Amino acid sequence: MTNPAVRIVEVGPRDGLQNESVRVSVADRIRLVDDLADAGLRWIEAGSFVSPRWVPQMEGTAEVFAGVARRPGVVLSALVPNPRGLEEAIAAGADKVAVFAAASETFSQRNTNGSIAEVLGRLGPVIDAAVARGLPVRGYVSCALGCPYEGSVPVSRVVEVAGWLAERGCREVSLGDTIGVGTPIAAREMTAAVISGIGTERTAVHFHDTNGQALANVFACLDLGIAAVDASVAGLGGCPYAPGASGNLATEDLVTMLEGMGVATGVDLDRLSRAGERICRTIGRPSQSKAAMAWRARHPY
Ligand code: HMG
Ligand code: MG
Repeated sequence: MTNPAVRIVEVGPRDGLQNESVRVSVADRIRLVDDLADAGLRWIEAGSFVSPRWVPQMEGTAEVFAGVARRPGVVLSALVPNPRGLEEAIAAGADKVAVFAAASETFSQRNTNGSIAEVLGRLGPVIDAAVARGLPVRGYVSCALGCPYEGSVPVSRVVEVAGWLAERGCREVSLGDTIGVGTPIAAREMTAAVISGIGTERTAVHFHDTNGQALANVFACLDLGIAAVDASVAGLGGCPYAPGASGNLATEDLVTMLEGMGVATGVDLDRLSRAGERICRTIGRPSQSKAAMAWRARHPY
């Protein structure tokens, strides 16, 4: 049954901007996070503390945290790969951290310079340390529906990695279709298999819209009772392995679907669309969101 309290986790300032070729200034990143909170988003991944040699777009995340207006009820999280990232996130005042592992060996090597087992081994102490400091931890499983190097990924491997993260202390595990190759039946089967291991209240889905399937994938998983859905304002970002491809599911489209189904999101679509428009103007490209395009047509300059 659809979870009546499905949370939208806004990942545009992190997953979106990390995949944009234009480097966005700290001031514009701060503005984006503030705009998103103003629109009613309550869970926002504001950036990451990773190696700038690997992801230069996320340099300056500490300044982003320092500059945003902190408000009660808005949880700002940071993605971290290792103890150093965790310490920097804590020092910056992150309310929550997210760690990431992959369900594909080759992707794990290319994204984090280690095998799946090595990366999980490194993440264990990071999760322990975060929990000991009172920070909730989210875990991501990348390549949950396919890998750019290996092609199909066994569901059993996704179940294993998600189960490990949950068992080790992640409150929530987000299943990432990193390259956006998933389609609804496969998305539902994979998500259902994970749920049978870790339960609905800890399962989130994270679809990229490379092939225009992200919203359909969410719809296919909603009645499994998933707790959270990740999305990115204006569909920011792209697919790191397909230059020019679309990014994450657009938050405006997700809000429109959920509200239309009677699932309250607490998000103001007008404000959200304005936030998307502002960041799109900053990076100089049109919104990827159909709902945002329709909103603009209803609100001519
Ligand atoms: P490594 O090269 O094995 O690590 O990378 P290292 O310890 O040898 O460090 C390499 C350099 O990075 C050193 O600098 C370190 O100081 C520095 P140098 O001495 O060469 O100048 N460094 C750091 N700098 C800042 N913050 C840190 C940090 N750690 C080391 N925390 C490492 C290993 C994990 C660090 C690297 O591979 C890395 O940072 N990877 C991040 C990759 C990344 O961010 N990918 C995108 C996020 S995952 C994703 O988008 C998927 C998701 O959205 C879900 C989905 O869609 O599926 C979550
Ligand atoms: Mg992603």
